[in-house]
Amino acid sequence: MRLLVCGGAGFIGSTFARLRVREHGDDVTVLDKLTYAGREENLRDLAGHERFRFIRGAIEDSEAVASALEATAPEAIVNFAAETHVDRSIAEPDAFVTTHAFGTYTLLEAAREQRLRYLQVSTDEVYGSIEEGTFTEESPLAPSSPYSATKAGADLLVQSYFHTYGLPALICRGSNNYGPYQYPEKLIPLMVLNALHGDSLPVYGDGMQVRNWIHSTDFARAIGHVLEHGTPGEVYNAGGPDEEANIDVVRRIVELTGAEESQIEHVRDRPGHDRRYSLSSAKVRALGWEPHVRFADGLAQTVAWYREHRWWWEPIRTGEYRAYYERQYGRSLQS
Ligand code: NAD
Ligand code: TYD
Repeated sequence: MRLLVCGGAGFIGSTFARLRVREHGDDVTVLDKLTYAGREENLRDLAGHERFRFIRGAIEDSEAVASALEATAPEAIVNFAAETHVDRSIAEPDAFVTTHAFGTYTLLEAAREQRLRYLQVSTDEVYGSIEEGTFTEESPLAPSSPYSATKAGADLLVQSYFHTYGLPALICRGSNNYGPYQYPEKLIPLMVLNALHGDSLPVYGDGMQVRNWIHSTDFARAIGHVLEHGTPGEVYNAGGPDEEANIDVVRRIVELTGAEESQIEHVRDRPGHDRRYSLSSAKVRALGWEPHVRFADGLAQTVAWYREHRWWWEPIRTGEYRAYYERQYGRSLQS
């Protein structure tokens, strides 16, 4: 397939681009604004590949989208482009509204004009928090943060383009991802790098919030599977095989890195913090997808990846991220 992959310089989008070029022989063009989280380094191993090209541009910029479509003539658009950190959405929601609302609208209009298949990458956070049981595609949307609320808004807009204009649009909602190339503002890479540097490990509140972890390669495969086999107009959830409380995740990281338990520090909780996410994947499993990576194995591989890829994270830990960390945690990183 020829694909336009928006937001493909980020964590999951770059994993998806790599998978589609290498394992499916697809022609992939990445369109990405390169925000703080988007990095061409994430696509370094695809640079120069004959079936890969990178274009810098924002999804809310209709001219950039039109020229990317003209250069690519894709059969489908896959949209990963997003602001993705809940804490940043609480501090500064502005870009979340622009990218998720206006950016998604701009892509949908372009897809409608050219009658392209369209896949929106979304999140389990649109369902809100669940104390017991598990969310299905029929669960009501009840987002809690500006991040999840704007993602839910984008999902509703995508569905309206299916119902109103017959756009062959699909939505794939994932649970919490982890793996190589994840920006270290997120729980797992933040804790791994802090553990390796002797920094404290800031656990929000009591650390008993539960997340449903999926390896990024499993989620990328689910998205490809839904793109190829899903029914337009439908939503597909892709959840990981394991759930774990944050404090237990951090204890595993302490063990895998050889850090000290005393580095763990309970800090002020996130406002409006969702207690638990849990996603049923029965519908996408019925299409033939299943996750392959169990959390214990995937976490060990991820810790090893960060140990071996200093070139990837060093420029981040010495750049804008330091100022963000100080604003968010009220203290500086030690090294
Ligand atoms: P990320 O923050 O690593 O990457 C986002 C990418 O989008 C970056 O490359 C960034 O430059 C780009 N981008 C942002 N705004 C843009 C704009 N206006 N125009 C063009 N490009 C823009 O995010 P990620 O973790 O890879 O998440 C990708 C998608 O998957 C998002 O839609 C997110 O909501 C969804 N998702 C993420 C998770 C998770 O745990 N990380 C879980 C489920 C779903
Ligand atoms: P995060 O990686 O931000 O993903 P999300 O908010 O999308 O689930 O956070 C995962 C969990 O880890 C969440 O319950 C918040 C918690 N957390 C901490 O306890 N400390 C931290 O420094 C961070 C970044 C997250």
